[in-house]
Amino acid sequence: SPACRVAPPRPSVEREKAVEELTIHTIPTAVLGASGGIGQPLSLLLAISPLVDELSLYDVVNTPGVGADLSHINSKAKVTAFLPEDGAGLERALTGCDIVVIPAGIPRKPGMTRDDLFKINAGIVRDLVTGVAKFCPKAFVLIISNPVNSTVPIAAEVLKAHNVFEPTRLFGVTSLDVVRASTFVADVVGGCPTQYTVPVIGGHSGETIVPLLSQISPKTDIPSDKLDALVNRIQFGGDEVVKAKDGLGSATLSMAYAGFKFAEALLKAKTQTGIVEPTYVYLPGVPGGEEVKKAIGGDIDFFAVPVELGPSGAVKATNPVPNATDYEKALLVKCYEGLKTNIVKGTEFITNQA
Ligand code: NAI
Repeated sequence: SPACRVAPPRPSVEREKAVEELTIHTIPTAVLGASGGIGQPLSLLLAISPLVDELSLYDVVNTPGVGADLSHINSKAKVTAFLPEDGAGLERALTGCDIVVIPAGIPRKPGMTRDDLFKINAGIVRDLVTGVAKFCPKAFVLIISNPVNSTVPIAAEVLKAHNVFEPTRLFGVTSLDVVRASTFVADVVGGCPTQYTVPVIGGHSGETIVPLLSQISPKTDIPSDKLDALVNRIQFGGDEVVKAKDGLGSATLSMAYAGFKFAEALLKAKTQTGIVEPTYVYLPGVPGGEEVKKAIGGDIDFFAVPVELGPSGAVKATNPVPNATDYEKALLVKCYEGLKTNIVKGTEFITNQA
């Protein structure tokens, strides 16, 4: 029509700024570390999810390329990408976000434990969560960066220091342990991995990962001669990937899947009830109660348990510890010891700087 040939009036600088601000203020989901091995496939899954309207990508490198690439996908998500730009990039990436997923930081190489990553990743998580506290203090924060056992307490301390800590909104992503557990259970007893739900509780590294194989749903018996090896594989499954990648990092694709699964559960929980996912949350003194106190002489403040999710985040934590078998209770004692050390290390990283 003739109207189509009429050039629209050129927007004034003020109007461009207003539109830009409006765009920033409606971005609900951010990925920090979006150019990495996890960040890229995770961003892809979020970009194609019908639940994501807008996706904000942030990294210290390569986000313009990753963002341009994803923005050509004909899904509804609007993708924007940011580099640091002396701090302004993080502010623009985070302002208005509802969900912030953080896979930023270095991954393991063969021979390294997750704790070996602390030196570098602790500072990265501190700085990024400081951005969350300043620019989107009400967002759900999903920490993937390792060591999760310590980086989540770091995030909590940063949020507390800014008076915006709300335990229902901070999550350590342990979904990969749960994904692995059902896969490895199916390897032992047969069937399709998706049919098994295995509560995996505690933390996210080695012996702090405690699969409760007596509570598999639907009820499944693991032959007793296979139990030790299966538990060990769930606890140290990440090492299989680190070894196979031979110096090129740790799990990225399975982690992107697991991280997306958790983010999607939170998005769904905004409108649906009854969504339960295991995650590492602030639960002072709850899971082990007196048993933990007896074992390690103190409380555990963070613990992974199945958590019911809702519009405000974590709604209700279930505590499967009382129903654990004696075999699992012995695993839990080792978990408490390691976890307590990891939590104190994370907390003190911030409190000692104050
Ligand atoms: P990667 O090295 O491929 O990617 C990390 C990305 O973070 C890079 O693009 C890097 O530029 C970026 N980055 C570094 N400093 C940053 C900063 N200050 N701000 C924003 N971005 C920054 O590593 P990968 O394989 O993606 O792993 C990321 C993290 O996830 C590691 O700490 C790894 O141990 C952890 N991980 C966690 C799992 C879990 O189950 N929670 C499973 C597997 C890995």
